[in-house]
Amino acid sequence: MRISGSQIDLRTMEKGDLANKVRWYNDPEVNKTLLLEEKFELDKSLKWFETAKDDKSRRDFVIETRDSRAVGLIGLLHISKMHETAECYGVIGEKEFWGKGIGTESHLLLIDWAFKNLGLHKIWADIRAENTAIIKIIQKLGFEVEGTLREEKLIRGKRIDVVRIGLLRDEFYRANPELSKPSK
Ligand SMILES: CC(C)(COP(=O)(O)OP(=O)(O)OC[C@H]1O[C@@H](n2cnc3c(N)ncnc32)[C@H](O)[C@@H]1OP(=O)(O)O)[C@@H](O)C(=O)NCCC(=O)NCCS
Repeated sequence: MRISGSQIDLRTMEKGDLANKVRWYNDPEVNKTLLLEEKFELDKSLKWFETAKDDKSRRDFVIETRDSRAVGLIGLLHISKMHETAECYGVIGEKEFWGKGIGTESHLLLIDWAFKNLGLHKIWADIRAENTAIIKIIQKLGFEVEGTLREEKLIRGKRIDVVRIGLLRDEFYRANPELSKPSK
């Protein structure tokens, strides 16, 4: 599957993308922005992918530039049909592509697609308070801060506050009036 934008496309993650995923998530500059403790290994990721690719509670996409270069990952986790909610994540692993608007466009594409195609009512995420770039993106998209989960994670011996953010479907289309709102 492919979701097309102006600067980038999102396409479904494939087995061949996992080497990039491992490299990106293990890059210390990328890793320190995430809420993950583990070191990624290719053989474990390949095993994980065997079940993840058919897991209906998640959707994983590769962010591809116009010349088909894979530069990052974005997706949805914990998709709940019952509650019409999902968590979103996004990482640009190729650091020379930071600060070029790709993070903004990929979140916009994913969230618009998810509200239109998965019948979601709300998308949420957990972020680090000090991640300025992601905070700017989520403010533009219309997310609200819902609370701080104090000392929620213990990562490499350090206790981390986690900021829970949430975006309701109506808020998203109000904040982004150039997009057509789904009828539901
Ligand atoms: C966070 C991330 C997705 C942002 O994507 P990006 O393509 O670099 O961001 P954009 O170019 O769309 O910029 C978004 C805004 O953040 C600002 N910004 C970008 N990088 C920044 C930085 N290092 N410090 C401060 N602000 C920054 C931009 O100026 C822009 O603000 P503006 O709209 O006011 O102009 C990307 O940098 C990334 O993947 N980083 C590593 C992993 C990560 O942090 N993931 C998110 C975990 S929740």
